Amino acid sequence: MLRRVAEDNVRMPDERASWNQRYRERSPSSLEPDPLLVTSYEEFIQPLFPHGGIALDVAGGVGRHGRWLAERNWKVDLVDISEVGVAQAKQNAGRSAAHIRFGVEDLKKFSFPQNHYDLVLVFFYLERTIFPDFVRTLRPGGLLLYKTYTRQQGKFGGGPSHPLHLLKPNELLEAFSALEILFYRETIRQRGIAELVAKKS
Ligand SMILES: C[S@@+](CC[C@H](N)C(=O)[O-])C[C@H]1O[C@@H](n2cnc3c(N)ncnc32)[C@H](O)[C@@H]1O
Repeated sequence: MLRRVAEDNVRMPDERASWNQRYRERSPSSLEPDPLLVTSYEEFIQPLFPHGGIALDVAGGVGRHGRWLAERNWKVDLVDISEVGVAQAKQNAGRSAAHIRFGVEDLKKFSFPQNHYDLVLVFFYLERTIFPDFVRTLRPGGLLLYKTYTRQQGKFGGGPSHPLHLLKPNELLEAFSALEILFYRETIRQRGIAELVAKKS
């Protein structure tokens, strides 16, 4: 399960080194939650979980979503490969940090607990090999929110460019077809983006 920051002694792969460097060098990231989380909170999350629940913030970065949920009565496990990002997430969480467990982990090696989370958030992180883990780690009735770049992003500046990091058309719909799809769209407004909200039955 989650290892604490201080206990983490996993060999440092390039992925970790490059994210650490990014977080060290760039100006503080916005702590505004993504609009998909805000709208889904009103439309799906709060109606289903009026008293909060347990959430997994996959590749949670500097904690913009973990903090936002913790302020709304959620317990959050934030997992990210970058100890620099996670240290910033802890600081950014302020008093809400008490409701967040911070883990420095490579998600490709993470032991996802089964049938555990009420909510799984995946924002701007794409690792197809662990798609099944997102489904397994949800409790029945739990929600998956997924948002990241599509191949359409190639038409715009910024963001990832390697196909490994870009979704194919309808890819999230197909990958999570075992879930009940509550919301899905692909947009090309300044960025190529796919957004999914789905429920485990
Ligand atoms: C674009 S950022 C998104 C951060 C956050 N989800 C958000 O939307 O604010 C991608 C994040 O994925 C993390 N990451 C990349 N590879 C990872 C891996 N193998 N395991 C865990 N986290 C990883 C990076 O450290 C980084 O924080």
